[in-house]
Amino acid sequence: MPLYRLLYKSAFALRGDARSVNRQIDDIVADAALDNLRSDLSGALIASNGIFIQVLEGPLSAIEITFEKICSDLRHRHVELIELAPIDERLFAEWQMVRVDIRDEMLPLLRVFDIALNGLVDMSKTESILELMRSRLTTTAVTKPPAYDAPNEMNIAQIR
Ligand SMILES: Cc1cc2nc3c(=O)[nH]c(=O)nc-3n(C[C@H](O)[C@H](O)[C@H](O)COP(=O)(O)O)c2cc1C
Repeated sequence: MPLYRLLYKSAFALRGDARSVNRQIDDIVADAALDNLRSDLSGALIASNGIFIQVLEGPLSAIEITFEKICSDLRHRHVELIELAPIDERLFAEWQMVRVDIRDEMLPLLRVFDIALNGLVDMSKTESILELMRSRLTTTAVTKPPAYDAPNEMNIAQIR
């Protein structure tokens, strides 16, 4: 089955303090991962500086159905399609949906996207943004400490 990739940008419409917004984003990603597993979609989500950038990849029909839902979701607004194109292979095959932490790189990234939305940028820029997202995921996977620290001799002793 031919594969497609969709990339869009939108603005948060989430209420609450930073902590609550952060939790809501984690919930969006966790729910999306479950739904995407059922629809054979993979992808990644950047959520930073009040902006979402999401990539979805998979069969065209599944992308279209999901993107329609996403567009009418009131948790964000100004959804702007950046790219919908056929692809040879998935870049995010390992992730049904995952949050990408890019922090400092968000502002330069948005500058590139604003140019893209004016039609002034070539698609090689889109490719490099996707590569940045992917490389950030693979490097975090290697360097990030485990979320759960398995008990070792030291903290078992403390528990006793
Ligand atoms: C930023 C953002 C990203 C989302 N990403 C996905 C996604 O990748 N897959 C998905 O199924 N729903 C995603 N959703 C949620 C959908 O908008 C929708 O709530 C969800 O598909 C449930 O639809 P349903 O009520 O028809 O089951 C996202 C929502 C937001 C705000």
